[in-house]
Amino acid sequence: MRRFSDKTLVVATHNAGKLTEIAALLKPYGIKVVSAGELGLDEPEETEDNFAGNARIKAHYAARESGLPALSDDSGISVDALGGAPGVYTADWAETPNGRDFAMAMEKVWEKLEALNAPEPRTATFNSTLCLAWPDGHEELFVGKVDGRLVWPMRGDRGFGYDPMFLPNGEVETFGEMDPDKKHGMSHRADAFRKLVDACFD
Ligand code: IMP
Repeated sequence: MRRFSDKTLVVATHNAGKLTEIAALLKPYGIKVVSAGELGLDEPEETEDNFAGNARIKAHYAARESGLPALSDDSGISVDALGGAPGVYTADWAETPNGRDFAMAMEKVWEKLEALNAPEPRTATFNSTLCLAWPDGHEELFVGKVDGRLVWPMRGDRGFGYDPMFLPNGEVETFGEMDPDKKHGMSHRADAFRKLVDACFD
């Protein structure tokens, strides 16, 4: 396992919600964080059909282009009654000609569950795969998850993406209602981060 010994880390994302969370998770380590967007890097196409494959594409692209170590997150929500969908296509379900619409995407998920008459609880898992890649092509991968169930109507306007319909197990607030610090302590990304930090950061 390679340790991270640089001063600056590129966060290989153009997603503002993810960037905020990753910057908050990295704060205690005194690392300077710059985003792929700030460096003017393009978004590579995510052509793999699994989280690890797409995380690798994003991190290696940013590391190669910037000459700095880069950290990517590929994540999504897998709904059991939908056979794991939307999964790696979580962001795609929100695409519209005018950008991403997550209220519409959440409605789509709920409508599909209703059409199937899926039994309650409608269980789901948020997954996060982190890839830390170096410009010489070395990489480390870490996988995190959090289990819960979907609720409707959506609740809360904090967080991002599918947060308002996800109720983590043992909680009364959805990720959309929860204090961000609490979400950052228990999310799929936090789970993957703990593994990353144990393995690579001092
Ligand atoms: P990608 O990793 O860029 O392919 O996109 C993953 C998508 O999953 C995001 O656009 C969000 O919609 C969703 N997602 C990932 N993590 C979270 C989260 O913590 N809360 C809500 N939605 C998330």
